[in-house]
Amino acid sequence: MTAIPMLDLRGEVEQLSGEIEAAIRRVLRSGHFILGPEVEAFEQEIAAYLGVPHAIALNSGTDALLIGLRALGIEPGDEVVTSPFTFAATAGAIRLAGAIPVFVDIDPATFNLDAGQVERYLSPRTRAIVPVHLYGQAAEMDALSELAARHNLLLLEDAAQALGARHRSRNVGTLGHAAAFSFFPTKNLGAYGDGGMLVSSDATVADRARKLRAHGSAKKYFNELLGYNSRLDALQAAILRVKLPYLDAWNAARRAAAQRYDERLGALAEVTIPLRSPNAEHVFHQYTVRLPAERRDAVQKSLAAAGIASMVYYPQPLHRMAPFAQKSATFPVAEAAAREVLSLPIWPTISESAQHEVARVLKQSL
Ligand SMILES: Cc1ncc(COP(=O)(O)O)c(C=O)c1O
Repeated sequence: MTAIPMLDLRGEVEQLSGEIEAAIRRVLRSGHFILGPEVEAFEQEIAAYLGVPHAIALNSGTDALLIGLRALGIEPGDEVVTSPFTFAATAGAIRLAGAIPVFVDIDPATFNLDAGQVERYLSPRTRAIVPVHLYGQAAEMDALSELAARHNLLLLEDAAQALGARHRSRNVGTLGHAAAFSFFPTKNLGAYGDGGMLVSSDATVADRARKLRAHGSAKKYFNELLGYNSRLDALQAAILRVKLPYLDAWNAARRAAAQRYDERLGALAEVTIPLRSPNAEHVFHQYTVRLPAERRDAVQKSLAAAGIASMVYYPQPLHRMAPFAQKSATFPVAEAAAREVLSLPIWPTISESAQHEVARVLKQSL
């Protein structure tokens, strides 16, 4: 039995059960289950929270990336620069849009795209960069924005793990031409099902995305684009509306929990605690340490034996996976990260005693 899971949502459900049940009843009584006023209200609330003019609610973060790429005008054969050290959906969306993911290695300290290496991977076919704000920390957006402007490239943020994070006091999701968020249940703002959001300051992009989520039509049965069925449902929107006002407090609680881990693990020679980039306000979707590669799996086993969950995000970089395989490519920093990372249990209400236990067992197993 796992005594300490990666994430425990029971406290949240308990805290909010009255509000959530009322929201669900409201939707059931409305008889309106797909898009509609609940979804529109949630779009407006996310737009206001981030300070962007347009928010388009979708089925998932994956669809937000795919529809975002297509709404930005990415065409089959275009090259799109991204990180090889991310969830498969990032490069999957690029491939599903018909484009070609071009991987660039990551920064060993932040696990995010190494902006200093991007330029040498650009070709006349490069159209966009998709930085990933991995684990909840903004990528190097100053350098990437400058590069994108200089080479006339589009910038789509994969902010699936980073709602509420900031970069130089600016909200993640407002730093490029568009951004994709995920409301997968484990995310910092999680639905009780799938959900996602595309945001953009560009009205044309927003208009295209709204069409693409509804089979490519603005007016029913008059389809202009080849689109998808990717609409958020009203129940998820209503639940997310209950949760959004708590997000900043939950993210602050995650930061406090991260700080407690730092204090317990920071002095151990074998453990590299997560670096905070000076420009980024981290929201600790994951608290991820580095361990010596030859010890990592044994540490994970010892934690499991003590009933403590941990996860390897991600054990294989994307250039090694069949859908994206690049036989001759090597990205040594991403490959080392895949062998060394371990994410520890974290959620807003994780107790100090649970964290103490995680740190104690980890230390013992080194
Ligand atoms: C970095 C990243 N990109 C994209 C996604 C896809 O989001 P979803 O699961 O909502 O499709 C996820 C989450 O699962 C993610 O972590």
